[in-house]
Amino acid sequence: MNIKLISGAIALLLCVASCTQKDDVYLTVIPQPNNATELTGTVALSDNICITAPSGNDGADKVVRYLSGHFNVSDGEASTPILLKEDTTMAAEAYLLEITPSKGVEITAAPDGSGWFYGVQTLMQLRNAGNGVVKAVRIDDAPRFVHRGAHMDPARNWLPKEEVLKFLDLIALYKLNVFHFHLTDDQGWRIEIERYPRLTEVGSKRPHTQIGHADTYNPVRYDSIPDEGYYTKDDIREILAYAADRFITVIPEIEMPGHASAALAAYPEYSCGLGKTYIVQGRFDVFDEVFCPKEETFEFLCNVLDEVIELFPSQYIHIGGDECPKKAWAKCDHCQKMIKDLGLADEHELQSYFIKRIEQHVNSRGRSIIGWDEILEGGLAPNATVMSWRGEEGGIEAASAGHDVIMTPAHWCYIDYYQEDPALAPQGIGGYLPIDTVYSYNPVSAAIPDSLQHHIIGSQVNIWGEYIQTPEHFEYMAFPRLLAMSEVQWTQPSRKSFEHFCRALDAEFPRLDSLGVNACRNFYQANIFGHYNRDTKQYEVELKTLWPDAEIEYTLNDSTFAEALKYTQPFALENNATVWARALRDGKQEAPATHRILKVSKASGATVDTHSEIIDGYVGLPRDSYAWKGTYGDTITVTFDEPVEVSSVRSRALYRPNYLWWPPSRVTIEVSADGDKFETVFDQEKMPFAEPPTESTAYPVAADFKPTEAKVVKVILKCCKSISSDSGEPAHVALDELEIN
Ligand code: ACM
Ligand code: ZN
Repeated sequence: MNIKLISGAIALLLCVASCTQKDDVYLTVIPQPNNATELTGTVALSDNICITAPSGNDGADKVVRYLSGHFNVSDGEASTPILLKEDTTMAAEAYLLEITPSKGVEITAAPDGSGWFYGVQTLMQLRNAGNGVVKAVRIDDAPRFVHRGAHMDPARNWLPKEEVLKFLDLIALYKLNVFHFHLTDDQGWRIEIERYPRLTEVGSKRPHTQIGHADTYNPVRYDSIPDEGYYTKDDIREILAYAADRFITVIPEIEMPGHASAALAAYPEYSCGLGKTYIVQGRFDVFDEVFCPKEETFEFLCNVLDEVIELFPSQYIHIGGDECPKKAWAKCDHCQKMIKDLGLADEHELQSYFIKRIEQHVNSRGRSIIGWDEILEGGLAPNATVMSWRGEEGGIEAASAGHDVIMTPAHWCYIDYYQEDPALAPQGIGGYLPIDTVYSYNPVSAAIPDSLQHHIIGSQVNIWGEYIQTPEHFEYMAFPRLLAMSEVQWTQPSRKSFEHFCRALDAEFPRLDSLGVNACRNFYQANIFGHYNRDTKQYEVELKTLWPDAEIEYTLNDSTFAEALKYTQPFALENNATVWARALRDGKQEAPATHRILKVSKASGATVDTHSEIIDGYVGLPRDSYAWKGTYGDTITVTFDEPVEVSSVRSRALYRPNYLWWPPSRVTIEVSADGDKFETVFDQEKMPFAEPPTESTAYPVAADFKPTEAKVVKVILKCCKSISSDSGEPAHVALDELEIN
């Protein structure tokens, strides 16, 4: 062979080595692995596999059991080999997954087995659902955080054991490793405690449940459907075994000192007394009925916790600690004496004393407590881990003081909030938390000193159950946002890409469907937004979808899409309209069309001296506070860029006594052509207001008057009620949108 041929051969070999592998590729996997190299070829992963795994290894046994649930395990010729290899130098949960035509599937991980399990999850997502083919790849992956949680609240509305098991199965697919089980609250006690049978005999039942949102000024409306259920110890053991098989730790939450109505309905002797009747609440609120920090109460709670600790192997026991009103303690002779005797400053320090006492007990059993961030108030218990929910501040404070923290700030992590236009969604608690906002979350705040950032041990989604009455609704809230959170928890920030996530999610939906998950399909819908464009001086509509490569079609006031237009860019809207939109890919629609009522008037783009949202085009939904804005000053001043002729004002006022929102009893409109001299063009004493009103009614506000030149319009609203809250806040008017024409 001459020298030329030899160098040619070397060049070819080098090319084979380098041209056949692509580094740092993004895979159709959620959460996105942290390192992936694409190799040459494919592996046919048939329904038949043969597994080689270390013997006498619990973790390997679990993974083999799991695989056996999804494949036929046999040694036949047609079986794809799967090798589980031990590497004692690897960290728990990390895995190396190599899929090559020559060797089949090899997963290398630490002997505890969690890494093999996660390698299997990645493998199953890579496998083509149709033909079982997997592309050759090498994945070197490990999680960003050790606490990757999801929370469930069957205390508010009962959810059966079967839904718990289904949820555990689902969160395991996305490599979550903590299930936060919120077992007790004002509306239900859901765990059997043998020593105190009344906790479930009395505390797990209620005759009815509030309909819609709370209202403290009128009798709440209730359904007549009993809510009842608790998990027996055998149920819990089954749940724990199922979770352990999926490398999930279950953290139980037993709420104290607040959120205690159900427990106190069963054992009122552990309250402050004060002549109250204690009931399992059917209403959703924060209640003044809390545990009284007397010795008998500590004995009761420690006995309860002992049974919980005996049952749950988790290092952490969550003791709640959130939203504990101090009214009862302020009135209770025993509590006041304790504050004095212990030299405490106030009731907040009494709560701190309470939590510290409980922590001592839990620590004495070799376990640690987690509490919501209110446990910072009055001084943090020495070994407590903090779950920061009211924002990141509590977490930042705790981590900066050297405590471990799990970040669950509501703004990014409360997926009981709406994920789509609330007008199109099932009844929710409120808020707005779309999937891209969940995805954008970074639990490690820059406000924590570098050297203490390791105290952020993870994050989780919380799914509070107040408005979630069925398993289907629970899944609707959890999915697909939980998948966005899985990437927050697992994937390094430098590897995260929302665009790739959307492509992977598109491929993952069919699997969620095949698993019978009732996921929200907003991902496949067109979302409709409106805003005034100051440059073009027009009210514009923008349509967006997360569905990759999809087109959007829209119509005005036509749900049949007969004359649908293709959306290419924001378009101007000149009058009130209902915009209808739908996303399509290759002519196919995967979710229902959406619509939004938009109000466009001469006021669009004008300046308003109160909430600018009062002129944003969006109408309010009577059942939700979203889009309704309370105005205290009674006078709303609207200033136009240029004088315009006006002759009418339209709006709606929401009746929501819970927020001190009442309709107006008098509406006056004043108009000025120069912004200086005002003329009263409309003044009506008695706007129609039906008594007794139904909570969440939107009352029309309408004023018509002679055409008048206006630079400034003043809308003066007199609230029909002259009551105040305990803190002196007066009743006022809340509007969704002001239209002036
Ligand atoms: C909470 O959301 N009350 C922790
Ligand atoms: Zn008391």
